[in-house]
Amino acid sequence: MNTREKYEIFYRSSMENREEFWKEQARLIDWETPFTRVLDYHTPPFAHWYPDATLNLCHNTVDRHLAERGDQNALIWVSTEVEKTLEITYRQLHAWVNQAAAVFMQMGVTRGDRILIYMPMIPQAVVAMLACVRIGAIHSVVFGGFAAHALASRINDATPKLIVTADTGMRGGKIVAYKPLLQASFHQVKVAKPKVLIVHRGLVPAAPLGPDEWDWDREMDRNLHAQIPPVAVPSNHPSYILYTSGTTGTPKGVQRDTGGHAVSMRASMKHIYDLRPGEVMLTGSDIGWVVGHSYIVYAPLLTGATTILYEGLPIRPDPGIWWSIVEKFKVNIMFTSPTAIRLLKKTGADWIHRYNLSSLRYLFLAGEPLDRETHRWIASTLKGQVIDNYWQTETGWPILANHAGLGLMDIKFGSPTVPAYGFDVHLVDEITGEPVKANEKGSLMIKPPLPPGCMTTVWGNDQRFVDTYYSRFKTLMYATFDYAMRDDDGYYFIMGRDDDVINVAGHRLGTREIEEILCTHPSVAEAAAVGVKDELKGQEVVAFVVVSKEGKPPGEQELKDLVSHEIGAIARPRDIYMVAGLPKTRSGKVLRRSIQAMAEGRDPGDLPTIDDAAVLDQIKEAIENK
Ligand code: PRX
Repeated sequence: MNTREKYEIFYRSSMENREEFWKEQARLIDWETPFTRVLDYHTPPFAHWYPDATLNLCHNTVDRHLAERGDQNALIWVSTEVEKTLEITYRQLHAWVNQAAAVFMQMGVTRGDRILIYMPMIPQAVVAMLACVRIGAIHSVVFGGFAAHALASRINDATPKLIVTADTGMRGGKIVAYKPLLQASFHQVKVAKPKVLIVHRGLVPAAPLGPDEWDWDREMDRNLHAQIPPVAVPSNHPSYILYTSGTTGTPKGVQRDTGGHAVSMRASMKHIYDLRPGEVMLTGSDIGWVVGHSYIVYAPLLTGATTILYEGLPIRPDPGIWWSIVEKFKVNIMFTSPTAIRLLKKTGADWIHRYNLSSLRYLFLAGEPLDRETHRWIASTLKGQVIDNYWQTETGWPILANHAGLGLMDIKFGSPTVPAYGFDVHLVDEITGEPVKANEKGSLMIKPPLPPGCMTTVWGNDQRFVDTYYSRFKTLMYATFDYAMRDDDGYYFIMGRDDDVINVAGHRLGTREIEEILCTHPSVAEAAAVGVKDELKGQEVVAFVVVSKEGKPPGEQELKDLVSHEIGAIARPRDIYMVAGLPKTRSGKVLRRSIQAMAEGRDPGDLPTIDDAAVLDQIKEAIENK
């Protein structure tokens, strides 16, 4: 049987014998109370996997491995920011997680409470995540590169009882003080102010603790021998919330369950990423994003593997840093973003050839389109298998992939290959919802129920979950908001988002948040943010603002700083144009697509519904005169 046939059989069994299939996968996990039913789908599109079972995620990631792997490294922290490496065994991780769980409980956190984690890439961040799920609390990790406004909107929505943070982050050798950002966010917080637990990293003198502030080291030391038994929770109990952007409204809290999450993570290691217990994985991402949640923390640890937590840039102190880590720790599987590889491509293949990479079986890339040229370059430079995979915060694991664990199918550059088991993928006409033919562009939809591990709802807002993802057509279908095409061999090609999401270096940003921040400037009447093509990062943010008649016109720099200060440096617009008006339809909708086309030097297209065509010429002029 060839690998294609093997995949087809596996995929078909996930579709045709869905419950049997997921019952089998569930054997990969320890359950406290076994399930008698695999799926409850009485209230579509809400799917409850393993509805009557209980389990604990921390038990499955840590305690479970102690007998066999107590002295094996669970986590290796490599920081090129502070030039430190720390190897942490499963036994050590277990002790720390117990201590942190005790601290959280002493600070009043109980099952179901939220803990917001705003941390750099340090081991304490992983310890905090695992300690949360140990006691049935729900973590919400906020990317350490986000700033005051982004933080505040997440605090307001998740209403955490506790925030775990550090006094400083580090980026490119520069210290980023977190406390002022946290304090600035508190000014925008409308809900009860949470307690704060702070890791003092020793990079700056420790500031005195304020009221409602605790010191991580001191509290951990007080609980040196704590033993906190893992709390068994129902399978559907939320394990975490992770915020992500769409077109409308504030970022949505993607809620993930416990049982389905555990099964999906462990199964994806086996069938897709091919990482075996005891092996080593290096995922170059951040715990603030879904790739970090899934493939730095949960999937490798559920597998009993060693995961590398890397704090630093991929090109510092030199572009060989990741490959030196692969050589030193004999990394078997690596995962990062196409942008990171494009960055390394600029520095040349020599940096890769210097190291012995014989342990490395696969490099996986996801988060944004992987262009053919980059795919070809890295595959030939590594002389190895480089695998594109496509998924979203919402799904938590691949929708499209080449299943390395089943045996790789032929790789086609530019294609994340075929649907992953469990995902009933359909490409349809975006207006009629009718299936499109091979080689035609369509909207990528998934027929529910979605497999285990996918988001169960929007935190605190079931209606928004249904309205956002399931109301495009009359029949219930999950919308990915991506366009795609399938070729004659059944290989898929992703063709970009069909909404206003901007993808900068694999980081997902909403236009609306950026526009709202620009509009907080007293002299800005209106703003439109769009994503424009960028050679390195895939896309960059460009904004157009209409300046109000009153007051002093804002400077471009000032507006860029405002965005960095409130959302974070990743959202900082590359260019901001001051224009007299924005092109709109007669019903007042901003024509972002036309603006984006012009910003990329393309024709805005035929716009019969435009209200005032003159504004288009003004925009064109502004771009040309830059
Ligand atoms: O547009 C798709 C793009 O990234 C979006 C999801 O981003 P996020 O929620 O941050 O999750 C990233 C998880 C890897 C998708 O809707 N995207 C992700 N992977 C690919 C991709 N676009 C093209 N090719 C991919 N492999």
